Amino acid sequence: MSKEIKINRITASYIGKMKRKGDKITMLAAYDYSTALKVDEAGVDIILVGDSLGMVILGYESTLPVTMEDMIHHTKAVSRAAERSMVIGDMPFMSYHASVDEAVYNAGRFLKEAEAHGVKLEGGREVSEVVRRITSAGIPVMAHLGLTPQAIHKLGGYKVQGREKGTAERMLEDAKILEDAGAFSVVLECVPETLAGEITRSLEIPTIGIGAGVHCDGQVLVVNDMLGMYDNFTPKFVKKYADMDTVLKDAFKQYIADVKSGAFPGEEHSFH
Ligand code: KIV
Repeated sequence: MSKEIKINRITASYIGKMKRKGDKITMLAAYDYSTALKVDEAGVDIILVGDSLGMVILGYESTLPVTMEDMIHHTKAVSRAAERSMVIGDMPFMSYHASVDEAVYNAGRFLKEAEAHGVKLEGGREVSEVVRRITSAGIPVMAHLGLTPQAIHKLGGYKVQGREKGTAERMLEDAKILEDAGAFSVVLECVPETLAGEITRSLEIPTIGIGAGVHCDGQVLVVNDMLGMYDNFTPKFVKKYADMDTVLKDAFKQYIADVKSGAFPGEEHSFH
């Protein structure tokens, strides 16, 4: 039986149209089926299966240990949930660095195996050939500039990028090079608001900011951060929309108390 064609899916070209219409783009990073269902139903435009899952879900200290297999596994789960949102798979460290051919092959895996609709990768002009070749293969590419966590050892920490004139000018040039290479959008992470605004105005493709101020064409947050579920490290740019830490801990404590006291399971939870 053929699968029903979903006509209401957000696409890369629709994301471009949103910028032209001045309609702000929403993106959330999520990593599992149940969460992605809610994100999709709520109407978020793009679900990014970010390699931040290495820290948030797998408990690593950075995103560097994340593998293609980790990413395919989680992207598959999110794709099964997303009816309307565009699903973007984040290419993990070393999946697009060794050779352009390997990068194209790995990007293709996100679409063939995990049913994503595009990929994201980090870096400036040094990845422009990779962006060009992946795009030529028909795969929408979201670029990522500013604080690029896969380069954490080169950057020397999780810090705001582009504060000096030289680095700001280079980021602006990189953004244009990535646009010319075919990227359909660019994430700006931890970039001063004025620079993010300048990049946004100078590009035809949309910018999606995280810690990059209000002038970007869209915003992205990590679901676990905005729900207050992951507080190993909370950057300044995170707005907490819920206090799930307290909600979850209270629920777990109540469950313990109910089991100990015999209040759970009740009549309604038992078979006769
Ligand atoms: O991995 C991730 O979640 C990201 C976003 C923070 C943009 O790259």
